[in-house]
Amino acid sequence: MSKKPVFVCNNCAATTTKWAGQCDSCGEWNSITEEKPLTSSSSSKAIGGKRGGKIELTALDTDEVPPARTQSKMDELDRVLGGGLVPASAILVGGDPGIGKSTLLLQAASMFANNGLKTIYISGEEASAQVRMRAQRLGLKDAPVMLGAETNLRDILTTLEKEKPQLAIIDSIQTMWVDTVDSAPGSVSQVRAAAHELTSFAKSKGTSVILVGHVTKDGQIAGPRVVEHMVDTVLYFEGERGHQFRILRAVKNRFGPADEIGVFEMTGAGLQEVRNPSALFLSERGTPTPGSVVFSGIEGTRPVLVEFQALVAPSPHSQPRRTVVGWDSSRLAMILAVLEARCGIPFAGLDVYLNVAGGLKVSEPAADLAVAAALLSAREDASLPEGAIVFGEISLSGALRNVSQTENRLKEAQKLGFSSAIMPKGEKTPKVKGMATNGFEDLTEFVGAIFGAG
Ligand code: TYD
Ligand code: MG
Repeated sequence: MSKKPVFVCNNCAATTTKWAGQCDSCGEWNSITEEKPLTSSSSSKAIGGKRGGKIELTALDTDEVPPARTQSKMDELDRVLGGGLVPASAILVGGDPGIGKSTLLLQAASMFANNGLKTIYISGEEASAQVRMRAQRLGLKDAPVMLGAETNLRDILTTLEKEKPQLAIIDSIQTMWVDTVDSAPGSVSQVRAAAHELTSFAKSKGTSVILVGHVTKDGQIAGPRVVEHMVDTVLYFEGERGHQFRILRAVKNRFGPADEIGVFEMTGAGLQEVRNPSALFLSERGTPTPGSVVFSGIEGTRPVLVEFQALVAPSPHSQPRRTVVGWDSSRLAMILAVLEARCGIPFAGLDVYLNVAGGLKVSEPAADLAVAAALLSAREDASLPEGAIVFGEISLSGALRNVSQTENRLKEAQKLGFSSAIMPKGEKTPKVKGMATNGFEDLTEFVGAIFGAG
């Protein structure tokens, strides 16, 4: 009985039974390859024919204490990991090529090694000499990290088994080559097989494994997110190439809070931690200008102040432009619609540009009111009161909703020299010394108070 072949698109992971030059689902050319099963023992035949062994079952209740985490002493990294590295965990660090993943992980490797973890760094992209040169430039050459340059996963696994490191870094998963899988390195089946082997190795041998993954142009790791499901923790390393800020963001973490961020600055001597990101994101700010609003946000467990900048100008086009950097464009459309429908302030015929300064991506609905304030301020050419920060969620009815961690937002603003907050009216607004609070029930009330007429 012959099994039907399965073909998979390396771009979108759609499966078909026939090979084709172009994928029907995503339209990509030459992306379809034949899918081979992982190993012969995982085929369905073995399950039907042979009886498996009985697995050991345990109760939820246990005396075992959770294993101690190891800190790198690089606080920004430790926080994103949820308080340090968990033994036997599998971590994926994704990001655009050239954003600084190898730099970050080489620095992390030396920090962990200096703190007593036996660490191996395997590069599939650069020769050992190149990695050593980089380490030298970064001033890390004395760290007890063992280096390897290899892409053959079988050799890598044998080496790891012999050396028994506590931490292995694989840079990158797209360069790894599994000899039982019959497609090119970087293809979905290769990446999946390599990630599977490495995560199983982590679990069975107690080695923490960090995989580096390049993100494809549409923001996915290795085509579809095949690897994200297999690992315990997924971190994204983001930033604009032109900016020096880099943000390490936990998007999934079995051992800590997701959405935690660590902020770094890329310098000539590698990545430097940014302990006080608010000060950095606001550093280029002068006196208040129309269209500029400071938002007191929460990233993970930490308050961060960022500046929203808006520009509103008459549009020469029949379809006005809506350009957004660092914020959700459909959320912007919603706020424009609410301003028009509830406050009678139209944006038709006007181009709208919205930007979060410093290259940070904000995803909190709590920024709604700051966005609305920036848009209005740009449209009316009137700046907000000096020393004011803004936060609050806007509902479709135009009502302002309270957001979480109000007190932390106020405290952070006060710490950075702000003196008042424009926010939703709450039943019990926390008192923070030195911060005046202006609470509003809805958007119309806010517009009337801050910008005069509606
Ligand atoms: P790299 O870590 O190689 O990126 P990735 O592994 O994500 O592809 O970083 C590459 C960029 O970082 C490169 O353009 C140069 C810059 N860089 C610095 O600015 N300072 C440094 O100390 C280092 C090592 C790199
Ligand atoms: Mg690299």
